[in-house]
Amino acid sequence: MDSERKFGMTRRQFVTSSAAAVVAGSLSPAALAHEQTPAAADRPTSSSPSRVIIDTDPGVDDAFALLLAMRSPELKIEGITPVAGNVPLELTLPNALRMVEIAGRTDIPVAAGAKTPLTRRLVTAAYVHGENGLGGAEFPEPKTKPVSEPAPEFIRTTVRKHPGEITLITIGPLTNVAMALDLDPDLHGMIPRIVMMGGSLSGGNITPAAEFNIYVDPEAARIVFQSGIPITMVGLDVTRKTGLTDAHVRRLESAQNPVSQAAANIAHHAIQHYREAGFLVDPNMHDSLAVAAFLNPSLLNWKEYYVDVETSGELTAGETLGYSPTAGDLRRSAEAEKKAAQSMTIRGSAPTLATTKTSPVLRDHFVPNTNVAMEVDSAGFFELLIGRLTGK
Ligand code: BDR
Ligand code: CA
Repeated sequence: MDSERKFGMTRRQFVTSSAAAVVAGSLSPAALAHEQTPAAADRPTSSSPSRVIIDTDPGVDDAFALLLAMRSPELKIEGITPVAGNVPLELTLPNALRMVEIAGRTDIPVAAGAKTPLTRRLVTAAYVHGENGLGGAEFPEPKTKPVSEPAPEFIRTTVRKHPGEITLITIGPLTNVAMALDLDPDLHGMIPRIVMMGGSLSGGNITPAAEFNIYVDPEAARIVFQSGIPITMVGLDVTRKTGLTDAHVRRLESAQNPVSQAAANIAHHAIQHYREAGFLVDPNMHDSLAVAAFLNPSLLNWKEYYVDVETSGELTAGETLGYSPTAGDLRRSAEAEKKAAQSMTIRGSAPTLATTKTSPVLRDHFVPNTNVAMEVDSAGFFELLIGRLTGK
């Protein structure tokens, strides 16, 4: 099949039309009104739990993220949509079902997502997550079945049921979300925010340039970043600072509840797996930091960028680039900075001799689309994570 055509319109048409919406300012006001922390309206409050869908590829840290979310009364989890990523869908789907069973939350619908990225072959990360995706920790086959709707359709119908209310928490490759946006050209305007574990402004983990979730499906990530949906990006810049230690495992083991015991089991195996593989670092809790960022954004410091994704680089596909008038070498006075924000062009690479294009400009002025987490209170994060899992 012509992969460019897989989506009804060509990917180029889709990317161009959604990017045009950003430039023309035709998006929801929320899309253009970024704050230093995610918008108050999207944040959970004690009186009204926030509706979320969690898109995931469990995955050791995904499993922790799911358990954390399911133990957080601030969230109303409308669904979980596994996608291929850390391991193939044949494993991420049952792993997600296992987590809802362990948490006693089989009321949450789980919808099976994409088996492959939009246009690329699947690259997995079994070297990090073990062959079964859970570091080698074993749990019984789940009895719970997924719902019949495929994930992109599930996302579409659920968002349409509650327009403007559902935040997507994405902690895997963005294939399902890109497919949902393609199914329904108006959907982007009904999603108040995506809180994403993905990307990095300080180098990658699977290549020097790219973070894993974006690397696996850069075309999907580009669609999502250019969709106009405000994005909260919890990338490697901060998730690298969240190593899970033996001391955390002991705290998890000491609590007598199924969630804490399962988390301890996964954590123990993941740490063992790391040591056997010769890694000298502790497993990072990338994905649960994204959930924590939604629960309590003040655990992190934030900065606004226009983020775009490299899709064509031979060595750099999946790199996330953060454009900002305050980034780079050209430091400016406050006044000049304000001016620069209005007039700064967003440039891609220079045109080649072979092309007729005369300008490398992607956007004629700076429009932030992403709030990027720059620093994290790691100890505060682990207090939240371990506290919720142990029930203390
Ligand atoms: C991300 O990639 C996966 O391996 C993790 O689950 C996380 O979502 C970190 O780069
Ligand atoms: Ca993940």
